[in-house]
Amino acid sequence: MLKYNILEEIRVTEKEEIDLQKEYIKKVRDINKNKKLKYYILTMGCSLNENDSEKLCGMLEEMDYSKTENFEEANFIVFNTCCIRENAEDKLFGKLGEVKKAKKENNAIIAIGGCMMQEEHILEKLNKSYPYVDIIFGTHTLHKLPEDVYKILEGTNKKIEDVLDIDGKIYEDLPIKRVDNIKAQVTIMYGCNNYCTYCIVPYVRGRERSRKPEDIINEIKGLAKEGYKEIMLLGQNVNSYNGGKNYNFANLLKDINKIEGIEKIRFISPHPKDFTDDVIEAIATSEKVCNTLHLPLQSGSSNVLKAMNRKYTKEQYLKLVEKIKNRIPDVALTTDIIVGFPGETESDFEDTLDVVRKVKFEQVFMFIYSRRKGTVADKMENQIPEEIKHKRFDRLKELVESQIKENNQKYIGTIQKILIDGTSKTNENTLSGRTDSNKVVVIEADKKYINQTVNVKITQDCMWYLKGEIV
Ligand code: 5AD
Ligand code: SF4
Repeated sequence: MLKYNILEEIRVTEKEEIDLQKEYIKKVRDINKNKKLKYYILTMGCSLNENDSEKLCGMLEEMDYSKTENFEEANFIVFNTCCIRENAEDKLFGKLGEVKKAKKENNAIIAIGGCMMQEEHILEKLNKSYPYVDIIFGTHTLHKLPEDVYKILEGTNKKIEDVLDIDGKIYEDLPIKRVDNIKAQVTIMYGCNNYCTYCIVPYVRGRERSRKPEDIINEIKGLAKEGYKEIMLLGQNVNSYNGGKNYNFANLLKDINKIEGIEKIRFISPHPKDFTDDVIEAIATSEKVCNTLHLPLQSGSSNVLKAMNRKYTKEQYLKLVEKIKNRIPDVALTTDIIVGFPGETESDFEDTLDVVRKVKFEQVFMFIYSRRKGTVADKMENQIPEEIKHKRFDRLKELVESQIKENNQKYIGTIQKILIDGTSKTNENTLSGRTDSNKVVVIEADKKYINQTVNVKITQDCMWYLKGEIV
């Protein structure tokens, strides 16, 4: 088995490294030519992983693999994993069992990458119980897939484990195959320095590092030329984006707002503690930046927030919301909440419900606290029994659903400007798009409207989405 070492990693600059990988792409393409090979990809987790998968797909397609949704016919199978909550582990090992047959029948190459590979106990389990996995790569070595594939195809290596613990560099100009042709995701920064005590991200994605403003702007200008209209900026903590020389997230938003052809700009996720006035101002004054804000609360209790190391209190969060609502009156706020964090009392949980009642979020992503090895909270003694966690989750869900139902009523009869981005997920005969506030709207209309921005009258509330008609 080959383990790359740090010396090898610093052998070249980032640009030279990518040029080297492009050479490997050509070599693999020569080997694969005319073989009509297929790849299957499974992506777990967040938008950052989806964007990484777009890069994996880009590299695989340049190596002459074409995409299949059926792993049984695939010659290359790749799993891009997430480890933010425990249940992802069961999913990965279940899937690995399923694909063993494809390995036998198609001699498929099996590759696993992403956050979970940065965890020691996962690597141990993979090596011990899943010897048929050919390539293991981490969050910092994704760009080396062409080299890994070449070495496996050539037989230079029987198996490759290519996971680095040091912080990754930023590799620009990787091939990319985007899933959508109107909306594009653009990662602006990698890693996280916040060490919220429940969260594994800083351990598996490394320290915060921002892309250069010019690289981001040029990528978006290129996307606009290709016909993309909506940009989703991604990062674990976008408002601590640091483009150097006093160039911060507010500057970036204002500069992207000037790019011709781009109609909508969204971003996830900011951290409440870093939500400075200039960012609020940039959102309020940049007409393309949607009036929608994902502002992760995590808990409404100041005690729990302190134990979580979130660096704000319940009162500070509510004050920030008030400030945002005053400056951006029609803002739509969404949030993440964890229930059952160690030590959470009934009164702490009531504080969470209280904030939910006061803020009236447009959408709440609710999570049951999941213990992650290596995090501070995992070592806390006052863990909450599963039964209580689930009961609290159900109570929160009930409140959130009743608020969403109530909130949806304000849309009925209004005219919304909507970019139609395709047919709806559940019904090929209907179209779908999102309001400025990111609410899904389903419309019965001709497919000629796909890719266009149209006025839609909202006619019906269907809880998680709205229905409307073009006017
Ligand atoms: N348990 C439950 N939820 C978690 N999240 C992060 N870590 C954990 C954990 N250990 C949630 C947070 C974060 C979202 C992406 O996932 O709410 O904002
Ligand atoms: Fe995790 Fe906190 Fe960083 Fe978000 S800000 S990725 S929750 S450590």
